[in-house]
Amino acid sequence: MIYDRRPDDFERINTPELAQRFIDEQVAAVKEQVGDKKVLLALSGGVDSSVVAALLIKAIGNQLTCVHVNHGLLRKGEPEQVVEVFGKELGANLVYVDATDRFLDKLAGITDPEEKRMIIGGEFIEVFAEEARKLEGVEFLAQGTIWPDILESEDGIKSHHNAGGLPDDLQFELVEPVKILFKDEVREVGKALGLPDSMVFRQPFPGPGLGVRCPGAIIRDRLEALRESDAILREEFAKDGLDNDVWQFFTIVPDFKTTGIKDGKRAFEWPCVIRAVNTIDAMTAEPAELDWPLVQRLTERITNEVPGINRVLWDVTPKPTGTIEWE
Ligand code: XMP
Repeated sequence: MIYDRRPDDFERINTPELAQRFIDEQVAAVKEQVGDKKVLLALSGGVDSSVVAALLIKAIGNQLTCVHVNHGLLRKGEPEQVVEVFGKELGANLVYVDATDRFLDKLAGITDPEEKRMIIGGEFIEVFAEEARKLEGVEFLAQGTIWPDILESEDGIKSHHNAGGLPDDLQFELVEPVKILFKDEVREVGKALGLPDSMVFRQPFPGPGLGVRCPGAIIRDRLEALRESDAILREEFAKDGLDNDVWQFFTIVPDFKTTGIKDGKRAFEWPCVIRAVNTIDAMTAEPAELDWPLVQRLTERITNEVPGINRVLWDVTPKPTGTIEWE
């Protein structure tokens, strides 16, 4: 059955059995909706689009084409994981577009955070539309819309960013198989579909990606320092078992330099900021209380291993007054 809305008596999906029942229902529903036609999906590697991709591969196999646009602002290892899991393990029809240069060229010299967001969002649609035009006979667009997206767009809190945005010559019928689910239910379904935990339990990651953590005009060296320091942070949090305890954690590399010393010589380099927060709904947030040995280990590794970083700072600001992201 294709649901338009979440029924009042819908049983919360919190066991593998309930997840499997939902998967079986949706596989049948998608087959009926799509028939032998082709479906397109923008696969970011985030939880929602990944679960939709895995579900549709099960339902319609190669009638689905997934497009993964790497805008150059993803975290270390993310595009590779999408290619590994969907392209290789699940055998998806995957189009991987490395659009890094396109995005970074457009962003060159742009310092205003909102302008950066607009450029990233606009360019994303353009790259995706170009790929869609190359494919013949696609009639459906699959989306990882979930129930809170629909509620929030009805309440006027935010526009339902998944829907629309594509140019007029690209109008598709929508396939939204997880649209009546809450996030925790999407995760349960993802687990039952066999997706790796690192994908299913991923912390939230903003659409503009590392772009909003590289304040001011983005340059490649600083972006690389950001990506490497973020990877070290994630590794060390995982070692301490914090990856499921702390709601969101990442680094920021601001666009100024300070004096330091490396190998007995003056090193005029960027600082790296640690941000780790706990929250229920991201409307307010508290800094996570990190153990001092972890902070020391992070400082040691980041300053030693990441070129261009000579200092580590820890952002202990709650929201408000600070937002979670820096831009
Ligand atoms: P802020 O910085 O507003 O972030 O306290 C709250 C949550 O939203 C995420 N965030 C975004 N997500 N596009 C997104 O998809 C964005 O432009 C964006 N900006 C912030 C942020 O990571 C945090 O979880």
